[in-house]
Amino acid sequence: MMVVFASSEIYPFAKTGGLADVAGALSKKLADYGIKVFAFMPMYKRVDSEKYELRKIEKSITVSLGGKSYIFEIYKKMDGVSYFFLKNDELFGRDYLYGTPEGDYPDNDIRFGAFCYGVMEFIKSENLRPDIIHSNDWQTSLLPVLTYHKYGMHDVKTVLTIHNLAYQGVFDKFAVERLGLDWEIFHMEALEFYDRVNLLKGGIVFSSAVTTVSPTYAKEITTPEYGHGLEGVLRKYKGKLYGIINGIDYRVWDPETDKCIYTNYCVFNFERKSDNKRSFLREIGLSGDNRPLFIFIGRFAKQKGIDLIMDSVSELSKKDANFIILGSGDRQYNDFFSSLIGNYRNIYVKVGYDEPLSRKMYASGDFLLMPSVFEPCGLNQMIAMRYGTLVVARATGGLKDTVKDIMEPEGYGILFEQFSKDRFLNAVDRAVRLYYDQLERFKDLQKTVMTLDFSLDSQTSKYIKLYEALKYSKEY
Ligand code: ADP
Ligand code: GLC
Repeated sequence: MMVVFASSEIYPFAKTGGLADVAGALSKKLADYGIKVFAFMPMYKRVDSEKYELRKIEKSITVSLGGKSYIFEIYKKMDGVSYFFLKNDELFGRDYLYGTPEGDYPDNDIRFGAFCYGVMEFIKSENLRPDIIHSNDWQTSLLPVLTYHKYGMHDVKTVLTIHNLAYQGVFDKFAVERLGLDWEIFHMEALEFYDRVNLLKGGIVFSSAVTTVSPTYAKEITTPEYGHGLEGVLRKYKGKLYGIINGIDYRVWDPETDKCIYTNYCVFNFERKSDNKRSFLREIGLSGDNRPLFIFIGRFAKQKGIDLIMDSVSELSKKDANFIILGSGDRQYNDFFSSLIGNYRNIYVKVGYDEPLSRKMYASGDFLLMPSVFEPCGLNQMIAMRYGTLVVARATGGLKDTVKDIMEPEGYGILFEQFSKDRFLNAVDRAVRLYYDQLERFKDLQKTVMTLDFSLDSQTSKYIKLYEALKYSKEY
C-alpha cells in the first residue's frame, strides 16, 4: 500500500498546533505498520534543513498558475517515511506559516494551491502510483479536486482529514482562475460557497472519504452549531464521513525521557512529578508548591475558550491556587495577556510559542484548563494526562471522547457543559476542592490518567482499514 500524505505542517519540521503533531505521528506510525508513505509539506523559512539533515535533490518542479511560473526546489529526508519539502521562497520564505498576528497572508490561495499542484506534478513526474492521496485541512484539500478534475487519476483514492472546520480556505470567486480550475466546478455542489471559492468544501465533495478527528466532532459538524456553514454538505456526504480519534506519539511525549523537564518520572514513581512543580515555581518566581497548579497551553483563539479565562482573571487571582498561561495568537488576546504579566501573585503568563516551557508545564501541572468553545479532538489533554495532569475541560468534541468526569463511575477528569463563566469557575472550584479535600483520591487519579492509552496504535489501524476498503472499492 502506498500513501501520499500531504499536510501544511508536520512535526518536528514546522508546527503551529495539533495538525503538525498528528501529521508527524500518523505518517510515522503508518510507515511502522508497513505502509509506504511519501509525506509532503512546504519548505517554510523556519524549517531548519541543517538540523534535520534535509538533502536537496536534483529535481525541481515547475507549476504555472495565473500566467506565472513557480519553481519548487525539492528537499528530501528518508526516515521510515519519505519526506519531501517543496521550496519556493516567494511563496513560503516568510516569517509565519499562514499569516501574521494581523491576519492571513492575502495570497494563501496561490501559496497552498501551488503547493498542491507541486505535489501532483511530483507524483506524475516520478510516476508514483499511490493507492491513496491523504490530505489534511483546507491547505491541501485542493489535492482531491486536482486528482480527478485536473489529472484524471481515477484509479487513485483520496482521503481528506478535517482537523478543524473553522478554517475553510475561502477566497473570492476569481480564485477559480488563479488556481487554474474550470468554472464548471464553481457551483453549489462543488467549490462554490456564497459566491466565493471554498477549498475545504471542494475537498469534501471530491474526496473518496472524509475523516475528522473524533467521533463526537464527526456528529457535531453536521449541525448548524458546529458546521460553520458546511453542515448541509457534511450531512449530504454523511455516508463517507468517519470520526477517528487522534492519538499522540508516546516517544515524543514521555515524562520518563523528556529532556526539557526537571525530574523524569513514570507511573511507578510518579511522586517525583512534584519535584517538577517545586523547581518550576521557583524558576518563575511563584510561591506555594502545596497549592494546586492550573496550566493553560494553546493558541489564543476564540475556539480555545480563552474569553472565559480573560473574564475570570479577577476571580482566579483570589483562589488558593496558581495559574500558568502559555499561548499566542490573535492580537487582542496577546495584548490582554501581556498586560497581566507581573500583576498577580498567583498568575504567570508567557505570550509566545515555547515548546520546552510547555513541557515543563505539562510535567509540573496538577490540572490543565481546556474550556474550548469547540474542539475537534485536542491533543493537549492527552499530553497532559500522559504527564499525570488532570484535565478540566468543556464537554465538547474530542474532549468529550477522551475525558470522563469524576462524578461518573471510573471518571478521571472534570467536565462542564455550558459555555459560561459560572460553569467554568464552578469546574475550577471542583478541581481545587478535589486537591485540598481528597488528596489521596487526587493522587490515585493522577496515576489512573498516566495509564490510559492515548497512543496512536489502534487509531493507525483504523486509517489502514479505511485505506484498504477504499483501495478495493470500485467507486471513487
Ligand atoms: P490545536 O491544534 O487546535 O492548536 P491541539 O490540542 O490539537 O490544538 O494541539 C496543540 C498542540 O500545540 C499541542 O502539542 C500543544 O502542546 C501545542 N501548543 C499550543 N500552543 C503552544 C504554545 N504557545 N507553546 C508551545 N506549544 C503549544
Ligand atoms: C486542530 C484542532 C484540534 C485537533 C488538531 C489535530 O487544530 O483544533 O482539536 O486536535 O487539529 O487534529
